[in-house]
Amino acid sequence: MCGIIGCTGGTDLVPTLLNGLAKLEYRGYDSAGLAVSNSRIHVLKREGELDELVGAVRDENDLGGTVGIGHTRWSTHGKPSDENAHPHTDCENRVAVVHNGIIENNHSLRDELHGLGHEFESETDTEVIPHLIGNYLDRGATPKEAFRLAVEKLEGSYAIAAVFESCDEVMATRKDSSLVLGVGDGVYIASDVTALVERTDTVVHLHDGEFAYLSEDGYTIVDESGNPQPKTGTAIEWDAEAMAKGHHDHYMIKEIYEQSSALRECLRDRFAGNFVSLDAAADHRAVDSVHLVACGTSYHAALYGAKLLCERGIPAQAHLASEYAMSPPPIRDGTLVVGVTQSGETADTLSALRVANERDAYTLALTNVIGSTATRECDDALYIRSGPEISVAATKTFASQLVTLVLFVLQLSADESSRDETRRLASALTELPEQIQAVLDTSNAEAIAHRFVDSSGNFFIGRGMQYPVALEGALKMKEITYQHAEGFAAGELKHGPLALVTEETPVFVSIVGDDEIARKTVSNAKEVKARDAPLVVVTDGQSSVEEFADEILSIPPTNPTLAPILVNVQYQLLAYHTARLLGRDIDKPRNLAKSVTVE
Ligand code: AGP
Repeated sequence: MCGIIGCTGGTDLVPTLLNGLAKLEYRGYDSAGLAVSNSRIHVLKREGELDELVGAVRDENDLGGTVGIGHTRWSTHGKPSDENAHPHTDCENRVAVVHNGIIENNHSLRDELHGLGHEFESETDTEVIPHLIGNYLDRGATPKEAFRLAVEKLEGSYAIAAVFESCDEVMATRKDSSLVLGVGDGVYIASDVTALVERTDTVVHLHDGEFAYLSEDGYTIVDESGNPQPKTGTAIEWDAEAMAKGHHDHYMIKEIYEQSSALRECLRDRFAGNFVSLDAAADHRAVDSVHLVACGTSYHAALYGAKLLCERGIPAQAHLASEYAMSPPPIRDGTLVVGVTQSGETADTLSALRVANERDAYTLALTNVIGSTATRECDDALYIRSGPEISVAATKTFASQLVTLVLFVLQLSADESSRDETRRLASALTELPEQIQAVLDTSNAEAIAHRFVDSSGNFFIGRGMQYPVALEGALKMKEITYQHAEGFAAGELKHGPLALVTEETPVFVSIVGDDEIARKTVSNAKEVKARDAPLVVVTDGQSSVEEFADEILSIPPTNPTLAPILVNVQYQLLAYHTARLLGRDIDKPRNLAKSVTVE
């Protein structure tokens, strides 16, 4: 889940690397580093966020080169430090390497290389790569040969870029880790397109086992045996403006406010008459059950999707992708496996999808990123069309995932008898962007954040379709405020967690509509109130909650299926304002990274 970048160029080389790293920092921010090369290699790297490296670059006056690579790190092997920061070099500084992924046989390779006299400076798995390359250089291999021979010895997952002394090419390769070339005025290589949108509007995807060589004159891609691989470029649909913070203090709040426009884009041209018409074409007659696999926020979306499918009579289960990959449930002929993944690069989700593919399931990637690994490995792809999301905390993409799942379920369960329900939901969906805007314009979440900022714990509860957003509300709270927060099914509280509830722990509950679910949730809320816990109720005003609620967060009434999306906007604002009051690094919470590309 580190970010890597490589490019060729003259005076612009270091600014280009730093600019790309700034865009990739959401993949990790434990340290950052770069290497430039001409007749010799110059490496600069610093523990901490990119600003530390930028400061070091400012103090340096000898950073010229014809080729360069850069890296922003999320630590796996070895703690954050200058020594463990990438790039890593061989003993004689002839090659510098950046890497994303995990080299699983690094211990045996390290022992072997030690035996050959190589000295290591870091605790990373990555450092074996430049030493391996150096070993082949010692034996007379050319840089290209040495790079290929070293890669042949690696086991695990990797996206690697390397520069050599006195060599005007950047070399790169990948296995189970994303890497794209940007082709425009210059040629670039990066972990994903976000690093490239300011420089080019065309990308070429590198596949597992392929090698790319970038020079001032262009690029070549070859397969493992050295055969040229002709490729056509894909247009990047995101522009630089969409990735700017604008007047907002944080990407997170910008992205929360982008939810209305994101949903309009998500819904655009997706209805045909009384039916939903999606770009993905899972044949609903052949699907008799659905497994949704995902992690984190996307798992909460998957849970929502599974509930919706079950409501419409289609057996469905949501699975944590990391568990699904280890112990998959039975997959039959009619099983559709949907990977719900914003990035399309989450290693756990990709593993689960690979397990499903091995068992001949029909697989679908429900994702935000065109051309991502999930879209290339699945039988089909369905896009949530959210636009770029930079903040580590997923916000607008969650809303877009839920709406895309609603559309997908409507398509999958379409028949004459469901026409009226489809019409009702379609009408409610078209009102949703404005309703989100209304919540954003009137929310009192900031005042509530002030009241509970020092609480010793936060509980989020909900029933039915409200349960996934209780989990999501708690996840958002813990990941950006670092405060304890848990989400529970409202009916489950009395089976244990109620013991944790005190007057110090606010309980957030969503009560929408006026049906049996709402009535039972009211009972659960009162059970909490009876234990003196402060109670914050998110309500659409249809049930009477004033007599027991300490605080109220309002949402407009909508179709019960869509209410969780509005509830969640209030929870996002609550987490954001709490984190702000606590002075947290909101867009880059500690220990986390947005794209989690290791299992
Ligand atoms: C949530 O705010 C996090 N960003 C995280 O839980 C995320 O949803 C998870 O890592 C899955 O990412 P994906 O959607 O890109 O697969």
